[in-house]
Amino acid sequence: MSVVTVAVPSGRLLEGGMRTLEAAGYLTAGTWRSTRRLILPCADGAVRCLIAKPVDLLAYVEHGAADLGIAGKDMLLEQGRDVYELVDLGFGFCRGVLAVPAGAVETWERKSHLRIATKYPRITERYFWRRGRPVEIIGLNGTVELAPQVGLADGIVDVVMTGRTLRENRLVEVDEVFRSTARLVVNRVSLRSRAEPVAAVVEQLRLAAGAAGGASSRREGGVELR
Ligand code: PRP
Repeated sequence: MSVVTVAVPSGRLLEGGMRTLEAAGYLTAGTWRSTRRLILPCADGAVRCLIAKPVDLLAYVEHGAADLGIAGKDMLLEQGRDVYELVDLGFGFCRGVLAVPAGAVETWERKSHLRIATKYPRITERYFWRRGRPVEIIGLNGTVELAPQVGLADGIVDVVMTGRTLRENRLVEVDEVFRSTARLVVNRVSLRSRAEPVAAVVEQLRLAAGAAGGASSRREGGVELR
């Protein structure tokens, strides 16, 4: 039997990804919680599961180390990898926003030299380019809300779930940049050369997630990048 490899991201999409694999019957409930292993064989031997950092996950799928992957739309938009996006799995909803310090809400648009800190440099560059606005992008790997508070940046582009991190760091959303949910993606070669086993796993995962199919999002009203 041909084993299909599915990459699941660590971090905020891990729980939803593992629950989807459980609901599809590939993983025994909760087994993934008690291990530090990064490759998990699944129940019936038809699937194995890799756990990768969200920022690296699409590289595993693009280069064929995984046939399938669960990735945030934010990473797909940012990285522009050569993978097919198949299904909106519906979980992991978040919004990417432009936020500035509360005291700069009225003035930031008039600044001639705008510096924006972000984990999403390509999305941010595109956002400002579409508005004809020059921007200096400060690429960071996390806790970007710190940057405006210590003078490293005038604002941030980052994802928001509850809004608590923005609030507690006295930042105010001034525009929405993108919306994101978890997507099922596939390696291009796997889709052709291993069509049958891969399609079977895609169908199981689609059903398990209760996803409508296709990559258009229900919660996003189709708007992904502004
Ligand atoms: C994410 C994001 C925000 C925070 C938003 O950070 O980058 O900082 O969560 O969540 P909230 O709106 O519910 O407060 P994450 O925990 O992934 O860590 P990071 O800042 O190091 O990237």
